Amino acid sequence: MRSNHLSYRSLEPCKVTLALRGSTAAIFATARSDNVVVAPHVLRLRAETPRNPRTAEGFAARLRALVPLLPHPSSPTMSFSSRLRALWTFGRGVALGLPDPTGDENPMELFERWFADARRSGLFLPEAMCLSTCTPEGAPSSRMVLLKGVEPEAFVFYTNFESRKAGDLEANPQAALLFHWGVLERQVRVEGRVERASEETSFAYFSSRPRGSRIGAWASKQSRALNSREELEARVREADARYPGDDVPLPPFWGGYRVVPSRIEFWQGRASRLHDRWVWQRVEDGNWSVGRLYP
Ligand SMILES: Cc1cc2nc3c(=O)[nH]c(=O)nc-3n(C[C@H](O)[C@H](O)[C@H](O)COP(=O)(O)O)c2cc1C
Repeated sequence: MRSNHLSYRSLEPCKVTLALRGSTAAIFATARSDNVVVAPHVLRLRAETPRNPRTAEGFAARLRALVPLLPHPSSPTMSFSSRLRALWTFGRGVALGLPDPTGDENPMELFERWFADARRSGLFLPEAMCLSTCTPEGAPSSRMVLLKGVEPEAFVFYTNFESRKAGDLEANPQAALLFHWGVLERQVRVEGRVERASEETSFAYFSSRPRGSRIGAWASKQSRALNSREELEARVREADARYPGDDVPLPPFWGGYRVVPSRIEFWQGRASRLHDRWVWQRVEDGNWSVGRLYP
């Protein structure tokens, strides 16, 4: 690994390190700032360029082209972490935007790429998503859940089948999911129909969880009224005694839901609120249509 250290006055107090390994180039942006509070995981960002420039000089030239596009550190319009994020996207996001979709691109594959970016960015819980459901009368409610699977046709999360959300979904199997990856200035909106995951899928995921979470699933009557913390702890002790070993069975009231999208929107923040939005919608033959939306 060969490293070049590049310093740009307009980027201070951010130190940019360029590293080359084979045909892959990466930048590390490290912040040293006394007056800006940035979470430690934001302080070290690593961006790989998909175009793999062959030389340090070529890579540095791209970086130099990006620098004038970044506001001065004292600019009140862009936070320090936003500048780091702009480095992360390295000209693909806020600074230069994203290319027009080709039309044959699958939105689930684009989601996988954005999700991988979110995981690499060091964000806490990039898999956290807001799940919105509706009663049959149309009254909405939202809560956070964790994305535990991305299948070619569906987003999967796990929950209690007797919870409030499950009550909504069993009566009205439509849902919306929302991801927000702030440091990347990206948002993804998903809408679609919902169905239960197979028991095998639920069992496989349940078995992968730590024993405490499996016992907790048995103990919790999710969304129902609880008289005291002691009552919950007593239920945990009871389940713990009932299933003493590692062999905790899958509760019949617990498992996965698959959200099968009919609409997915990708939102990339850009300068002056002139953001990029692309929306994919299922058409009758099962294919996707794609188009841009005004920001
Ligand atoms: C970051 C985060 C992740 C969560 N993940 C889940 C999850 O994967 N499944 C779940 O049932 N609840 C999860 N919860 C709890 C839910 O937000 C909610 O409190 C619970 O599911 C009950 O919702 P309901 O009464 O609307 O059914 C999570 C909460 C947070 C803050």
